[in-house]
Amino acid sequence: MTQPSPAQKPVAKSLYGGSGSRRITVRDIAAAKERGEKWPMLTAYDAMTASVFDEAGIPVLLVGDSMGNCHLGYESTVPVTLDETVMLSAAVVRGTTRALVVGDLPFGTYQEGPVQALRSATRLVKEAGVGAVKLEGGERSADQVELLVSSGIPVMAHVGLTPQSVNAFGGYPVQGRGEEAAQQLLRDAKAVQDAGAFAVVLEAVPAELAAEVTRSLAVPTVGIGAGSDCDAQVLVWTDMAGMTAGRLPKFVKQYLQMRELLGGAAKAFADEVVTGAFPAEPHTFH
Ligand code: KIV
Repeated sequence: MTQPSPAQKPVAKSLYGGSGSRRITVRDIAAAKERGEKWPMLTAYDAMTASVFDEAGIPVLLVGDSMGNCHLGYESTVPVTLDETVMLSAAVVRGTTRALVVGDLPFGTYQEGPVQALRSATRLVKEAGVGAVKLEGGERSADQVELLVSSGIPVMAHVGLTPQSVNAFGGYPVQGRGEEAAQQLLRDAKAVQDAGAFAVVLEAVPAELAAEVTRSLAVPTVGIGAGSDCDAQVLVWTDMAGMTAGRLPKFVKQYLQMRELLGGAAKAFADEVVTGAFPAEPHTFH
């Protein structure tokens, strides 16, 4: 009997931690919303870290443009380039076998219009092998979403606080406060869903509004600073693991103090080098 193609294989039973011999697809994501199953997403920027998250059963990994602040040493996401995103997305794809890898379109690679967006997204799909792309914006990005989706590229949209607009926002303020802003956020989320987005990130949005958006959409919402009623939750991995230096947003929970642990390991190594305790006999060839 011939094997079913990946498209024909049954959808995954559970997104988080479920075993499977194939990658998670956007069909699995849609099925999870129907089941009412919540799921986690993390960012990843390199093959080794991505393989840890893949082994941990994280079903969706975002090669976010947060790589700007968290991996490449920029002050914001704004300077991130498409070449950088293609290179790091390819590494994350190579490091994983199960997760759906989503590549983030950087600032300036889709705002000109749908054709520019398609050209940029095509590079991420062809050169890096991602299964989907993400872009920021609601109504203003709906035409881009529509062309990508009709061209066969699944799109995760991102509304609310969109960090690529940091210069226009004058920082990273909570979005959707007040009736008018709340209505605009609802229109934005609806617009990208209607354009074909398979999921919508809601960043820094009051929990009550995020719950209303989640109820009114047929596609899943992925919250970051948007309360507990979203269908999924995402965190930047360096924030989640306590690797990021400095002040963190209120919505971050740290599950590890990795910066302290890694610094401690580096100091222990350095101390042993200066005292001559390392390398010892077990680490030595004769
Ligand atoms: O770039 C990123 O990491 C993101 C998430 C915070 C959603 O956009």
